[in-house]
Amino acid sequence: MIKEQFFPTTIYAKDVKLDNQLFANEIVEWSKRDPGLKKTNRNGWHSTTQMHKVPIFKPLVNELFKMQNEVFQEEWLDREPILLNMWANINPPGGYNAPHIHPNSHFSGVYYIKALQNSGQIVFNEPRSVAHMVMPTRKKGETPKHLWKEVHLHPVEGRIIIFPAWLWHCVEPNKSNDIRISVSFNFLQKGFDV
Ligand SMILES: [Fe+2]
Repeated sequence: MIKEQFFPTTIYAKDVKLDNQLFANEIVEWSKRDPGLKKTNRNGWHSTTQMHKVPIFKPLVNELFKMQNEVFQEEWLDREPILLNMWANINPPGGYNAPHIHPNSHFSGVYYIKALQNSGQIVFNEPRSVAHMVMPTRKKGETPKHLWKEVHLHPVEGRIIIFPAWLWHCVEPNKSNDIRISVSFNFLQKGFDV
């Protein structure tokens, strides 16, 4: 038979080499002098959202643009990306992020600066709400990825993940004994930033 898969949801990932130690020190110092914002963070610190304008983080911004441009190619978009905002997150042991989407953006993502494997997976949910209507029983063993209703990804230091801004996600509690530091961001296609 012919099999075609329509309406895929693509989550992009890329590993980059940056000075994470420098970024970590800078973010920890920043958190000591700034109370930050209360958003989806539970028991964690969320910085203000103009981090992309801070010169020390320019190498990260450059990598984000490089990857977002690749994503635009993949997604067949014809105008360049605009980086709307960017912020740092520190989740101490027990800290997590409640389920959310990123309104008024096209693509969102995260970059891991300091993250032990058990410091909290990012969890994405099946976005086609109607697909939750049927829950047939499945064969034993590993289910193929395209049938998953949830995707759990381990944080990996130096990894950027970019996904559609409308995709529901959360971050599980940090079960390690150390802080987890990540950076989140939102991109928009040029022309929508008015
Ligand atoms: Fe998010």
